[in-house]
Amino acid sequence: MNETNTVGVDRLSRRMERGCAFLGSKVAIMAGAMSWVSERNLVAAMSNAGGFGVIACGAMTPALLDAEIAATQALTERPFGVNLITMHPQLEELIAVCARHGVGHVVLAGGLPPKGSLEAIKASGAKVICFAPTLALAKKLIRSGVDALVIEGMEAGGHIGPVSTSVLAQEMLPEIADKVPVFVAGGIGRGEAIAGYLDMGAAGVQLGTRFVCATECVAHPNFKRAFIRASARDAVASVQIDPRLPVIPVRALKNAGGELFTAKQREVAQRLDENAVAMAEAQLEIEHYWAGALRRAVIDGDVEHGSVMAGQSVGMVTREEPIADIIAQLMTEAADALRARAA
Ligand SMILES: Cc1cc2nc3c(=O)[nH]c(=O)nc-3n(C[C@H](O)[C@H](O)[C@H](O)COP(=O)(O)O)c2cc1C
Repeated sequence: MNETNTVGVDRLSRRMERGCAFLGSKVAIMAGAMSWVSERNLVAAMSNAGGFGVIACGAMTPALLDAEIAATQALTERPFGVNLITMHPQLEELIAVCARHGVGHVVLAGGLPPKGSLEAIKASGAKVICFAPTLALAKKLIRSGVDALVIEGMEAGGHIGPVSTSVLAQEMLPEIADKVPVFVAGGIGRGEAIAGYLDMGAAGVQLGTRFVCATECVAHPNFKRAFIRASARDAVASVQIDPRLPVIPVRALKNAGGELFTAKQREVAQRLDENAVAMAEAQLEIEHYWAGALRRAVIDGDVEHGSVMAGQSVGMVTREEPIADIIAQLMTEAADALRARAA
C-alpha cells in the first residue's frame, strides 16, 4: 500500500473495520465462491492474503466437502467460509459437515434459506450470510436472523438477477446497512468502486471475476486466457427465447456453447409446437443443457463449448498475478480514492 497516503489508508481501514470484525479478516474483501474455482488453493491463498476466501460447495457430496474443508484448514489458519446452494438435496448433512469442522461463516446461495437451515447453522455457532435480491427480502432475512447480507448486481459472473449493482446499493444500503453488515458484489474490478460502496454504507465487498486469474487459482490455463483476452461486452447474460422454456440467466463469456444453446432452445420450442415432446420433458432438456458445462471449461479447458462464467469486470483482468498483489492493488486504489475525495 502507498506509504505516503496515510490519510487514505486510515480512512479505508476505518470504513472496513466492521466488515473485518465480522469476517475475522484483515481486509473486508470476500472472494465470492465460484464452483470448481473456489477450492482449497484459492480459498486458502485469499485468506492468507488477508481477505476472506469462500469454498464453493456446488454439487459436492458431504464427503467431498468434508475433505475440501480439511484440506483448506491445512493450508491456512485464517478464517474462511463455505458457500452452500440451498437446493442441494443434502443441505442438512452439508451444514453438519461445516459444523464438525468449526467453519465460522456459512453463505447460503441459490434462493431463500429452507426452513430450519438458518437455525441449524446458527446452532453450530457459525454466522449465516445470505444473498438479498430485493429490499423486501433483505428485511425479511434480517427478521429471520441472518448475520450479514450480500447484495449482488447483474454485472456479476455466474447466476444473476435483473438489477444492477449501483441500483441495488442505492436502494438497499440506506435502509439496511445499519442493521447487519452488507457486502456489495457484482462488477467490482478496482478499488475506487470499493471505496464508493464503503462510503455508501457497505461493510465490505465481494469479488469473483477479478480473482479467477490469481496465480493460486487452479482453473485451466485456457479459462484464464479467455478472461485475460475478454472485454466487458464479451460477458453476456444467457437469453431465453421462448416463454414456455424458462432459462435462469447466467453471465458468461460469449462462445460456441452459447450459440448452440440458442439453437437448442429453438429446436425444442419447435418440437413443442409440433407436440413431439411433453412440456415437462422439454423444460428439463433446457434445464440440463448446461449440466457439467462449468466444469468442462474450468477444469478441462474447453472454453468453446463449456460455460465460461465471468462478470463484466472481466475487462479489468489483464494478467495472471498472485492474489496478494491483487488485494494490495485494490486496497491502494481504494485508499487513494478516499484521500482524493476528501481533498
Ligand atoms: C466462474 C464463476 C462461478 C461462480 N459460482 C458461484 C457459486 O457456485 N455460488 C455462488 O454463490 N456464486 C457463484 N458465483 C458468483 C461469485 O461468488 C461472486 O458473487 C461474483 O462473481 C461477484 O461478481 P463479479 O464476478 O462481478 O466480481 C460465480 C461466479 C463466477 C465468475
